[in-house]
Amino acid sequence: MSSLLKNITFIVLILLFLGISYILLQESEQRDSLAGAPIVEVTEAALTPLAEDGQAVFDTKCAYCHGLNAAGRDGVGPPLVHLMYAPGATDDARLALSIRKGVKADKWPFGDMPAEPDLAEEEIRSLVAYIREMQKANGIQ
Ligand code: HEC
Repeated sequence: MSSLLKNITFIVLILLFLGISYILLQESEQRDSLAGAPIVEVTEAALTPLAEDGQAVFDTKCAYCHGLNAAGRDGVGPPLVHLMYAPGATDDARLALSIRKGVKADKWPFGDMPAEPDLAEEEIRSLVAYIREMQKANGIQ
């Protein structure tokens, strides 16, 4: 092969590689933006101080899976502002237990919820208050 031909082959291969990388990158960005859309529509609530503390914990430890305002994240985790978790269906003790011990995949296709053993009792109480107040503000009680 002449050196000109070698150079051209080399350049074509580089361009091909860049083209494929570009397409793959675009696809993964598209997936990331699809995963994560809220699952239910949630109106923000005026919160009590306890629930506000809960919201702060929620935003750092739970929103990654359950979405902002506990509205769920498509492909990641379920909404907690949901009839399934209304007080009559899932009482406060059950919520607290699930938060502390985690949950085996059961009602949703998102896999297991990991345990949060490092949460203080007070933080769990505030999380339960936050979930309940968000539910109530959205007609779930
Ligand atoms: C890694 C993702 C993930 C994180 C982080 C996470 N959860 Fe979950 N959670 C889930 C999934 C998935 C389910 C549903 C399991 C099922 O029923 O299929 C769930 C279920 C729940 C339930 C319903 C429990 C029940 O008894 O059915 C509550 C309440 C809950 N999560 C609260 C929280 C709180 C509060 C936090 C933060 C401290 C949190 N979760 C963090 C993924 C997560």
